[in-house]
Amino acid sequence: MNKSGWHKTVMAVMLVSVLVLICGCGIFSGVAAGETDAYEEENANLVVVGFSQIGSESVWRTTNTLSVQKALTKENGYFLIFNNARQKQENQIKALRSFISQRVDYIVFSPVTENGWDTVLEEAREAGIPVILMDRMVNVEDASLYTTWIGSDVEEEGRKAGRWLEQYLRITNRQKEDINIIVLQGTLGSSSQRGRSSGFVEIANQYTNWHILDQRSGEFTTAKGKEIMEQMLDRYADIDVVVSQNDDMTFGAIEAIEESGRSVGRNGDILILSFDAVKDALLLVEEGKIAVDVECNPEQGMYLAEVIGMLERGEKVEKAYVVEEKVFTKENVSKYIESRTY
Ligand code: AHR
Repeated sequence: MNKSGWHKTVMAVMLVSVLVLICGCGIFSGVAAGETDAYEEENANLVVVGFSQIGSESVWRTTNTLSVQKALTKENGYFLIFNNARQKQENQIKALRSFISQRVDYIVFSPVTENGWDTVLEEAREAGIPVILMDRMVNVEDASLYTTWIGSDVEEEGRKAGRWLEQYLRITNRQKEDINIIVLQGTLGSSSQRGRSSGFVEIANQYTNWHILDQRSGEFTTAKGKEIMEQMLDRYADIDVVVSQNDDMTFGAIEAIEESGRSVGRNGDILILSFDAVKDALLLVEEGKIAVDVECNPEQGMYLAEVIGMLERGEKVEKAYVVEEKVFTKENVSKYIESRTY
């Protein structure tokens, strides 16, 4: 892609700002003009990507951020501008506007919730900047406001959890029993919360003896997951299953259940169905505390680099790229634990 002179100037300003921050003005004033020219030359052909990440609420999220940072390195030809939105849509919108004013080559973002993006995406389109969605989805009138999306089939993740429960109740001969279920939801209005909820409910609705007693948001964090689980345990005496929409909330929920004197697991009081499959959760699957963990794959950076590479070469890209994901239970988990890096 050809970089305009204006673009080179923006790159130079960004680099100078970074150098000022790192070195401090006094030291930087000692850098000779020739040296800054060398920096400009060296970086002028990098592809500039503005990446607005939701936050750092979970192990999954931190892994996802790292995977993008590892893929979009200077050595690979990228200049990555990273922004952490700390779970706030207004911060993401501000970040996107700042990327637009810096005239980045691409905007990548993982939308905290689905609604409310039309205006800022229009602004990106007017500026001629392609937008790549990662992980979560937006709900917009005009799908051409984004170029492509890379992420998980979260609805299918919800179905996978439901199907596992269906099969487990059949095998253990409990298919006629009343099954009381609590759902710990993620961030309300996010595509992972909505998809996992509707996928699971689709299966649950096929059984009149499955009762979803309550659904409350634990905001994808351990602390909130624990707090909500404590409330549920106080409110409902008979809980058979907890569907926890990520591992971080699961860690908190297990703590709350055990502190209340109840046990988790196939031979315990409450069955836990979880999502993400981070290493600490896989260890709990092996131990039998989590009955099933439906994987949500955070390693999306390499797909992102591939898609940007295609766009740079002028190739056509698909509207959606779905990453591969497994389901982990006590029966298969051991062989995956050692190689899990997050
Ligand atoms: O959108 C993906 C979800 O967001 C992950 O399941 C969760 O851990 C994260 O915070």
